[in-house]
Amino acid sequence: MNTSTASEKADSAIRVRDLCFNWPKGDVVLQTCSLEVPKGEFWMLLGTNGSGKSTLLRLLAGLLQPKSGEIEISNHVGFVFQNPDHQLVMPTVGADVAFGLVEEKLSLPEVRRRVEQALVAVNLLDLERRPIYALSGGQKQRIAIAGAIARRCEVLLLDEPTALLDPDSQLDLVAQVRHLVKSRNLTALWVTHRLDELNYCDGAFLLEKGQVVDQGDPKRLSQRLMQVEQDLSV
Ligand SMILES: Nc1ncnc2c1ncn2[C@@H]1O[C@H](COP(=O)(O)OP(=O)(O)O)[C@@H](O)[C@H]1O
Ligand SMILES: [Mg+2]
Repeated sequence: MNTSTASEKADSAIRVRDLCFNWPKGDVVLQTCSLEVPKGEFWMLLGTNGSGKSTLLRLLAGLLQPKSGEIEISNHVGFVFQNPDHQLVMPTVGADVAFGLVEEKLSLPEVRRRVEQALVAVNLLDLERRPIYALSGGQKQRIAIAGAIARRCEVLLLDEPTALLDPDSQLDLVAQVRHLVKSRNLTALWVTHRLDELNYCDGAFLLEKGQVVDQGDPKRLSQRLMQVEQDLSV
């Protein structure tokens, strides 16, 4: 596999070419999967259960290694999981956002500044001292995003981040991520099942059996996905 930084090619922040991945006992998940997400855009990844969405995101984040194919992506990638309890590790909001900065060996004032800026970006500065257990699901997801912003991530990968949220927090989160992408020139790839979220993205990919079978206009793709799901249920 070739891995290089996306900045070499100014137009795409995520570029995947002919990616293949099998689980150890041989089940093929991704088959010559290719896609590109333009820098500064918010794209969504659709597909039925088991089509390989989470596997693709984990490959992009470097959490899994592909069998073959190419991935070009920024070195600064933030990952947001479906269940925020799987990634918030410290007892309070401020400590959790600061925890992600440990590797950078910054001075204490610089850590404080980065944490504050990141919490301002997700509108949660007033919760800096709040224990994590006292947050709502939507607030926890925003803290996970703040962690990525504090680390100066250029690309956000979000795997069904609203799956456990109520409808109001769901739409708040997707609107906020869109705002962050546009105001900070980030790039985001967001996996979803919830078709009302498609109104917020610049474009979408439809994954079927580990291949991108369609991409572009979110409205057209959501109709196609509904058709696929209907066909599967009869
Ligand atoms: N850790 C694993 N080991 C073996 N197979 C897995 C593992 N995780 C997922 N799979 C299988 O890989 C396929 C793709 O899964 P996944 O990427 O999670 O799909 P999606 O996110 O689109 O629902 C499914 O058939 C799933 O059962
Ligand atoms: Mg999944």
